[in-house]
Amino acid sequence: MCEIKLGDVKDLIKDYPDEYFDCIVSDVPYKICTGGARISEESIEKFGKNDPKGIFNRIVVLNDPKKQKWVKANYDADNAILISKGNLFSNCDIKFSEWLPLVYPKLKNGCHAYFMVNGYNLKELQVEAEKAGFIFQNLLVWVKNNSTPNKFYMKRTEFILMLRKGRERYINDMEMSNVFTHLNIIGNKFHPTEKPIELMKDLIRQSTNENDIVLDPFMGSGSTCLAAKELNRQYVGFEINQKYYDIAEKRLNQVFVSRNNEYENQIKLPLDK
Ligand SMILES: C[S@@+](CC[C@H](N)C(=O)[O-])C[C@H]1O[C@@H](n2cnc3c(N)ncnc32)[C@H](O)[C@@H]1O
Repeated sequence: MCEIKLGDVKDLIKDYPDEYFDCIVSDVPYKICTGGARISEESIEKFGKNDPKGIFNRIVVLNDPKKQKWVKANYDADNAILISKGNLFSNCDIKFSEWLPLVYPKLKNGCHAYFMVNGYNLKELQVEAEKAGFIFQNLLVWVKNNSTPNKFYMKRTEFILMLRKGRERYINDMEMSNVFTHLNIIGNKFHPTEKPIELMKDLIRQSTNENDIVLDPFMGSGSTCLAAKELNRQYVGFEINQKYYDIAEKRLNQVFVSRNNEYENQIKLPLDK
């Protein structure tokens, strides 16, 4: 079974039998706010009420100047000063609690799950995953070659929450560390959050054997599926956005040549084995 489907995971997952998938690897959607320019107090009226869907504003509450928070754009900002305007990524409409309980029954006993997530959303993802039945296994770290600006240390890492369903099952190479150092894809990406094929391959290689079925319910441009294909695993991928579904289809059919392996092999970071 190698297939990708266009649509919402909440509908598509129902077509598969229980205990079907051997592994789930996914760069899951979550809320990301990107800071904008500082905006004057006068802008509250303009941006506070009328922003289009998907915009969040960062405000400071007047009667408690230390308190800052991100609020929906239509928040009643009478007691607040808007200090920056942020964009919410458009792929965050689905909550962890909406899809985790639907996907869990479709995984085999002993199945490993790898979910990519940032520090802000890690706790909620783990809590919701455990509510669905998953058992915490490890927290993996991807150390990148680029950093994103942050007031509290530049960010050079991403997290991969590793969980399992049911019985304990070892990974294939138990000497491998929980730190991954694959190069990030910079510029000319198939997807804004495209992940390196080699990173996805490492995860798939560890938790599956040839012909096992790998699920990615949020495949974006299809990186997980492509990695599975290159490792002779079967795959099932879902994507709600037509644009990324089409890109994934082209990548999997080799209309686009995968340039990631070549790119990644050029430089090894110091932490590599
Ligand atoms: C973080 S991106 C994955 C990108 C991927 N790692 C890659 O290399 O291209 C998550 C994807 O999930 C998709 N998505 C969001 N909600 C969805 C849903 N309800 N069902 C299926 N896909 C969804 C988004 O359109 C987005 O492309």
